[in-house]
Amino acid sequence: MLVGPPGAGKGTQAEFIAAHLAVPKISTGDIFRANVAQGTPLGIQAKQFMDAGQLVPDEVTINMVRDRLAEPDAGDGFLLDGFPRTTPQAQALDKLLADLGTGLDLVLELVVDDDEVIRRLSGRRTCRGCGKIWHVEFDAPNREGVCDRCGGELFQRDDDKAETIAERLRVYARDTAPLVDYYGAQGKLVGIDATGPVEDVTNRAIDALRSYG
Ligand code: AP5
Ligand code: ZN
Repeated sequence: MLVGPPGAGKGTQAEFIAAHLAVPKISTGDIFRANVAQGTPLGIQAKQFMDAGQLVPDEVTINMVRDRLAEPDAGDGFLLDGFPRTTPQAQALDKLLADLGTGLDLVLELVVDDDEVIRRLSGRRTCRGCGKIWHVEFDAPNREGVCDRCGGELFQRDDDKAETIAERLRVYARDTAPLVDYYGAQGKLVGIDATGPVEDVTNRAIDALRSYG
């Protein structure tokens, strides 16, 4: 699984790491956003929390992940992006995986400071067509507002406004940062420097995975 503050590059790296491992990427943020876009009851419930920079309640999130892990493509492994992000979620995941006779192999912490997070989130753009994550400065498409990969329209996330970013950082420090100690105590945590070019971060992540077999 990947852990790190908002904007650390979890979504960006998850795509490459999941492809490298040939496993599905399971991103709770992506699943919530897809539900919001489709106007499902789950999406309507999640949207109020997301727009405020708050976490969706644990019970809702855990049930959603339980359903996702039961899908056939998750049977041979998966990469978690954005889950768990509270201690109760981590405990629920440990139990869920133990019941399935398995467990997490490795937790990669993407380490970046708050100033970099703010730069990254304020310039982020996402493709409506294929989901590719862009940045107006650090990873800009050739044509402004248009995805190079699929020609789709790029949009700015509702939760990437300055005041919401500040709240997400507070929530991360309070609720999610304790997971670093939680997984450290299990001997599963590896921290990697998530600054510098995207490919360099991917290589550091893959090296960390290799050293754990
Ligand atoms: P979620 O979607 O998980 O958001 P997040 O954790 O805040 O993370 P982000 O998606 O904002 O950032 P990222 O680390 O993926 O960075 P990215 O790769 O995009 O969650 C959203 C909301 O959903 C939550 O606030 C909550 O409400 C709810 N939610 C989700 N999971 C939940 C859970 N488990 N429990 C409860 N609620 C939950 O990169 C950011 C930008 O930086 C991009 O523009 C990218 O191009 C750029 N970039 C990436 N890497 C680099 C680099 N090396 N150099 C320069 N720029 C870079
Ligand atoms: Zn696209």
